[in-house]
Amino acid sequence: MTATIIDGKAIAAQVRSEVRADTADLVQRGITPGLATVLVGDDPASHVYVRSKRKACAEVGMEAWDHDLDASIAEQALLDLIDDLNADPSVHGILVQLPLPEHMDEQKILDAVSPLKDADGFHPYNMGRLLAGEPVVAPATPAGIQQLLVRSGIETAGAEVVIVGRSNIVGKPMAALLVQKRQGADATVTICHSRTKDLQAHTLRADILIAAIGRAHAITGPMIKPGAAVIDVGINRTDEGLVGDVDFDAAKEVASAITPVPGGVGPMTIAMLLANVVTLADPSAAPSGSPDAADDNGGNSGPGSDDDDGDDNSGPGSNDDDDNSGPGGGDDD
Ligand code: GUN
Repeated sequence: MTATIIDGKAIAAQVRSEVRADTADLVQRGITPGLATVLVGDDPASHVYVRSKRKACAEVGMEAWDHDLDASIAEQALLDLIDDLNADPSVHGILVQLPLPEHMDEQKILDAVSPLKDADGFHPYNMGRLLAGEPVVAPATPAGIQQLLVRSGIETAGAEVVIVGRSNIVGKPMAALLVQKRQGADATVTICHSRTKDLQAHTLRADILIAAIGRAHAITGPMIKPGAAVIDVGINRTDEGLVGDVDFDAAKEVASAITPVPGGVGPMTIAMLLANVVTLADPSAAPSGSPDAADDNGGNSGPGSDDDDGDDNSGPGSNDDDDNSGPGGGDDD
């Protein structure tokens, strides 16, 4: 079998054109969606990723504010900047590129971003909504993977999905998205990680195998079920250039569909980030249970609430034309 290549660049281009149209609509209504990106330190990969995000904003007609901070900046100075951005009405989305320097408490920084401006969907409020099946914005990489599956016609309902990698950026939110009772989800989901016993026994069950480990070619041909769809989130810099977490040449002979690296998941991450900014900028997209609402009933999810609404609320697709979106979130194996 030779797998169909899932063209992330083309699907991301579709999403980006949708985002461009949505942005133009908002501009007509007097709102120019804007994203503030914060980059701390000199990590070369993070510089490349953030540059791509900033460029992508301009390409769809959004505003972008670039904050580049020295690696030695005090944590409090970063918290002060986030406070200022939270209070600035022209800023709709805030993104703090990860990883942060060692001396900073990453979770404290993510908690400081207003959930209403949380372009990454990393704030505990948004993570909680995601788990409850009521996302406002979802983390961009898993949301992009869901769009790749949906737009490639890969059935997720009832599918065995095995995710390798349990990071907060990819693995955990990916599972939360695909387990929901709705279109583009409804999967049976397993998360594997560094302590999983007999990884291959799990991966061989996967109708959809999602590799987000952060290790070059960790998934080999014999680990893949014949006919599976394989999604490779890895972006590993090696002597042979950029490679994924999957041994592509071997996998494409076993799988029915596979994402390449580059040109698979990467372009989708930026597209979905832009989609999130549009959502945050659009007053009509505000959640019913907003954390700022005076009369907050927490959305619609009291005990016994019906979770079977059949809606696909995974957000519009959006996209980018390269893979400069960030590593595969394989930092927490
Ligand atoms: N580092 C790696 N991936 C991401 C991402 O999606 N968002 C942010 N903010 N940092 C990252």
